[in-house]
Amino acid sequence: MDKRYISVAIDGPSASGKSTVAKLLASKLHFLYIDTGAMYRAYTLAVINKGLDPKSESESNILIGKINISFDDNNHILLDGKDVSKEIRENVVADNVSYIASYKEIRLFLVSLQQEIAKGKNVVMDGRDIGTYVLKDAQVKIFLCAKEEERARRRYLENIENGRETSFEDCLANIKKRDYIDSHREFCPLKQAEDAIILDSTDMKIEEVVEKMMEIIKEKGIEL
Ligand code: DC
Repeated sequence: MDKRYISVAIDGPSASGKSTVAKLLASKLHFLYIDTGAMYRAYTLAVINKGLDPKSESESNILIGKINISFDDNNHILLDGKDVSKEIRENVVADNVSYIASYKEIRLFLVSLQQEIAKGKNVVMDGRDIGTYVLKDAQVKIFLCAKEEERARRRYLENIENGRETSFEDCLANIKKRDYIDSHREFCPLKQAEDAIILDSTDMKIEEVVEKMMEIIKEKGIEL
C-alpha cells in the first residue's frame, strides 16, 4: 500500500448507516467514496437480469470477468455502462445479494476491482471486509454497528421514502438473514478487524456519527 495516500475503511452489518456516513465523511475530507456493497448488488442484478440462479454458485460465476462494474463521477454505480443505482436497491436484489457475496471467486473478482479503484487515491471505502481484507493496511478502520431493530427501522423508512413497497417485519427479517449469511460465510466473513474502532450508532444522529469519525481520524494524527 502506498503510504502517501490515506484509506478509511468502514465495515459493519447491513443498514448500520455505513453508506450514508461514509459518503458524507468522504465529501468532508475530499476523498473518493467507494461503496463496495453497491458492487455486490450490481453483480447480483446482472445475474438476475441474465436469468441465472443467484443460489447457484457455478451459474453465478459465469459472469466473472464478463461484466463491467464501475462508478461515474457522481458516485452512481454503472453495470456495463448503464446507471443501475435505483435497480440495485430493489427487494429482489436485497434478497439475493448475500448468496452472491458468499461466492469466493466472485469476491476475488470484485475485491481486485475495489483495490484498483482505490489505488493512488485518498479513499473512504465501506463494506464488510474492507479493514480485514480489501484495504487491510488502512490507516483508519471503523466498525459501525447499531441494534437490529434500529437498523430495520432505518431501512424501512428509507424504502418508504423511495416508494418501495415494504413492511418493518420484512426489513427486520431481511437484515437478520443477511447478518447471518454475511457473518457465517467461509471466505472473508463480516468481522471486526482487530485494530478497528467500534462505533455504535443506535442512539446517534448521522451528523454525530460523521463528527465522531472526524475525531477518530484526527486522533490518529492524520494531517488533512
Ligand atoms: O452494504 P450493502 O447492504 O449494500 O451490501 C450488500 C451485500 O453485499 C451485503 O449483504 C453484504 C455484501 N457485502 C460484502 O459481502 N462485502 C462487502 N465488502 C460489501 C458488501
